[in-house]
Amino acid sequence: MTEVLAKLVGHWIARRSNPVPQALAAVAGRRPATVITGGSRGIGLALTRQFAAAGQDVVMIARSQDVLDAEALAMRDIAGARVLTLALDITRDDAADAIESFLQSQGSYLDVLVNNAAIGLGGAFDSHAPAAIDQLIAINIGALTRLTRHALPAMKARGRGGIINIASLGGYVPGPQQAAYYASKAYVTSLTEAIAEECTGTGVRISVVAPGPVETGFHAAIDANHALYLKLIPVMSPERVARAAYSGFMLGRTVVRPGLVVPLVAAAVRVLPHGLTVPIVRRLLEQRKPGSRR
Ligand SMILES: NC(=O)c1ccc[n+]([C@@H]2O[C@H](COP(=O)([O-])OP(=O)(O)OC[C@H]3O[C@@H](n4cnc5c(N)ncnc54)[C@H](OP(=O)(O)O)[C@@H]3O)[C@@H](O)[C@H]2O)c1
Repeated sequence: MTEVLAKLVGHWIARRSNPVPQALAAVAGRRPATVITGGSRGIGLALTRQFAAAGQDVVMIARSQDVLDAEALAMRDIAGARVLTLALDITRDDAADAIESFLQSQGSYLDVLVNNAAIGLGGAFDSHAPAAIDQLIAINIGALTRLTRHALPAMKARGRGGIINIASLGGYVPGPQQAAYYASKAYVTSLTEAIAEECTGTGVRISVVAPGPVETGFHAAIDANHALYLKLIPVMSPERVARAAYSGFMLGRTVVRPGLVVPLVAAAVRVLPHGLTVPIVRRLLEQRKPGSRR
């Protein structure tokens, strides 16, 4: 509560001391847009709907144009908001420039960036092809870092907008059987909390969201559908995560942990020794055959 109040006061002071920054005048006549990576399904799609329902223009990014177009069409009736699509692999070196050019062509500017796209890898670390690990790092860490670095200076100059980075409960503890993925989410958590502190009083909101398991195709894609964590930790809907992320961000909260169980688990893994928690997490993440009692 104190953190939220301090942030709101910080935003208010930033606005009062610099009512119309030059950088804001430079985008006069253009519409602020929320850009969501991985917007075509799962949590990213729910976030797209959430922002659009709040009347904000959204650009959904993913690699498949067909899927993006079908989802945008389904949202065409959401009042007041434009839902635009951009087919783009965010690991491309020129991804930030491609987003910028697209926004300009639409008469928009990047107001809120949601770094949501990520991939997982299930199984022992040395069972993965080196190229698969490189790809995970490129999406989960590389692209998120580059897009954040690209977006931040203009947001600070305008004294508005912000960034939501989607991390995970997995960012709080090493994750045997999902080692690279958990490590990537620890990076996202650490990076975002540090940047949020640097942005205090600038008028720019920075949030990191750490959901527990969410009902998306993510777990099947990494062959983890039968892992214990999906039975022991309540699985949330993408819509619930999107609501928590949106309201937490609008309230200026740096860390958003959706639901009741996730904050408790996050607090527990922070105080318990890793010697105890890491073997437990290994049992939770182990891939199990359907019906296995192991
Ligand atoms: N599901 C969970 O239980 C869970 C829990 C905690 C945190 N999270 C985090 O929540 C976020 C979303 O997860 P999700 O479960 O909703 O994932 P998902 O259903 O697998 O969707 C991933 C999205 O990212 C896009 N994407 C993947 N690689 C891309 C690339 N190189 N360039 C552009 N877009 C790319 C995908 O579209 P294309 O394949 O068409 O490109 C898709 O739209 C991730 O950061 C994940 O780590 C998920």
